[in-house]
Amino acid sequence: MIIDGPDSVTAAVLQAMAQGHDPRLREITGAFVRHMHAFVREVRLTEKEWDAGIGFLNRIGQATHDLHNEGILFSDAIGVSTLVCLLNNGNNGATESASALLGPFWRMGAPEMEDGQSIVRSPTDGPALFAQCRIVNPKGEPLPGVAVHIWHSSPRGFYENQDSEQAPMNLRGVFRTDADGRFSFRSTKPAGYPVPTDGPVGDLLRAQNRHPFRPAHLHVLAHAPGYKTLVTQVFVDDDPNIDSDVVFGVTQPLIGDYVRHEEGTPPAPDVAAPWYTFDYEFVMEPGVSELPTPPIK
Ligand code: BEZ
Ligand code: FE
Repeated sequence: MIIDGPDSVTAAVLQAMAQGHDPRLREITGAFVRHMHAFVREVRLTEKEWDAGIGFLNRIGQATHDLHNEGILFSDAIGVSTLVCLLNNGNNGATESASALLGPFWRMGAPEMEDGQSIVRSPTDGPALFAQCRIVNPKGEPLPGVAVHIWHSSPRGFYENQDSEQAPMNLRGVFRTDADGRFSFRSTKPAGYPVPTDGPVGDLLRAQNRHPFRPAHLHVLAHAPGYKTLVTQVFVDDDPNIDSDVVFGVTQPLIGDYVRHEEGTPPAPDVAAPWYTFDYEFVMEPGVSELPTPPIK
């Protein structure tokens, strides 16, 4: 097709792309082009602005490496990760627990832990946390043998892969549910933290006058043969940013009840008040057990 002006570009591109063999790829790329072209028309994008946009995309690629995924961070910061997550998972708690985005910091290879063990592997400040959780199927029956990956940031706001002061795999571990679907672990109470702001996504947040904080949360990835993998987060209810998560991950069922204890006998001899306890029941539904691609190594 010979292009005779802006009005014929979209049709020409769609026609060229319609030759692909994969119907789903045709659907996705076709819709992408229609929406991109409509966006360019709506804002009457200038050449300078287009150039800045391409520069931004290029910087996302340049900022991405084995231990950092700026592409996911961008998707998170514009709400696309949460939208994809909520469209594909959770069905409002009808048959499985609410999901939340995986985020850029899940790693394979975290140590397998015994029930009740601590995931604190190097000195880490913050009050102790004792978690007691259970995983059931949609009928409320216990699910034994589920591998449950737990990870969270330090109270100083860094995941271990971002912080040379933490031992490798600090605040990460993989637990197994027992015959009654239960698992428990010890850690420190998670704290809120800023997402990395030293790359193009940080520039975007500053330009939009947005704060970079995520409310404190524990990440959970539960994985068992015959069950759809559950990827979620449980948020700390008293966090000041609970209703303004920079990546839009907080939904009501995922606001946990982190109970503060000031008195009584602590659950372990080395624990001083205050300490926190946390109980949560997760529901997994039958389905295909697939692990996501780890965003970092
Ligand atoms: C996280 O929760 O680990 C996370 C999610 C999105 C962006 C940055 C961090
Ligand atoms: Fe996180």
